[in-house]
Amino acid sequence: MAKVAIMGFGTVGSGVYEIIKTNAAKLQQNADDTVELKYILDIRDFPDHPQKELFTKDFNDILNDEEVTVVAEVMGGLHPAYEFTKSLLLQGKSVVTSNKELVATYGTELLEIAREKNVNYMFEASVGGGIPVIRPMHQCLTANNITKIAGILNGTTNYILYQMIANGKDFETALKNAQDNGYAERNPAADIEGHDACRKIAILASLASRKAVDYNDIPTEGIVNITLDDVKYADKLNSVIKLIGYAEFIGDKVYSIVAPMLIKKSDPLSGVNDVFNAIKVTGDCVGDVMFYGAGAGKLPTASAVVADIVDSVKHKVRSKKFTWYKIDTDIMADKDAKKFAYFVRTNDTLENAKKVFGEICVADSIVDGETAFVTQPLTASEVEAKSKELKNTLKYIRVLD
Ligand code: HSE
Repeated sequence: MAKVAIMGFGTVGSGVYEIIKTNAAKLQQNADDTVELKYILDIRDFPDHPQKELFTKDFNDILNDEEVTVVAEVMGGLHPAYEFTKSLLLQGKSVVTSNKELVATYGTELLEIAREKNVNYMFEASVGGGIPVIRPMHQCLTANNITKIAGILNGTTNYILYQMIANGKDFETALKNAQDNGYAERNPAADIEGHDACRKIAILASLASRKAVDYNDIPTEGIVNITLDDVKYADKLNSVIKLIGYAEFIGDKVYSIVAPMLIKKSDPLSGVNDVFNAIKVTGDCVGDVMFYGAGAGKLPTASAVVADIVDSVKHKVRSKKFTWYKIDTDIMADKDAKKFAYFVRTNDTLENAKKVFGEICVADSIVDGETAFVTQPLTASEVEAKSKELKNTLKYIRVLD
């Protein structure tokens, strides 16, 4: 019998509890062992819970209980999640988590401890909620050099952009709906400013390259400056706007960025709507594969956490190593290492736009006095310099190739 604990009884934690209870027979079959919940750690009281005897406020109850071999850390935040996780791994217990902030910030150190102690530190739920992507990328695509990853990694922003595109809703109403549905972070700035997507692409880029990618090194733009007019222009260009976490592996360097991008309607990522996430991974043997599903929410995220619990129960003797390593040299590619075409809006004339940018694809203007167009592929420095040559460039947005 495998005894497990849950740390944090919020949205995801209560989902993990629910799945362990309702799908007990299925879990037993798949883990080849009974999965029994022994503790739930939370600082709050749950006097009406049907299993209130499981609750504890004392982390040491879990840490010092030799029977507990797997712990689900679904508390969120960095502290005390980091300290708890580290102590548990050092104590020889496996930890599984949905905490992308923790994995992106302290993952390198925690994975090293897990390797040393021959226990599991698994984080399938940290990227893409319920979508299997960590395991498939690591195992099923193991024959490939991963060359590129482009993902819609944040459900809240995808939900907001979709409401703007499909229902003409304004930003605030759409964000409020996402919060009401439990998709948004406690501080939604992490969603709309792109930090959540940044942590997730850092995790995927680290896993794909096996080298620790520091999320602080990834230039990150959110969707706060995207307007209904931008969305309408994108439609005129047969595209939609999505927040994309992007990583490309160029030589031994990693080029990565998080930014809103125009996605052509022929690209399967363009059809990923609502709170759904999708990750398109390109391998040198397999070509493009896409992982799609619910990127946030109680049961989808808990589904991935429980899968890691089951896998940890099955691999208690020889741990599974979804891992990466700290590299001492700078592995990040220069901001100009990758060219994108750009969608540009300006108050300057079409004639001047052509003079500065050369060959462009012009969009029908939807705002009086504006010229809108798509450039040829340019580096970040080139588009910066060229747009300064125009009289009043309103904005430019990358186009995903
Ligand atoms: N706030 C996150 C999102 C939750 O909207 O995708 C899942 O990581």
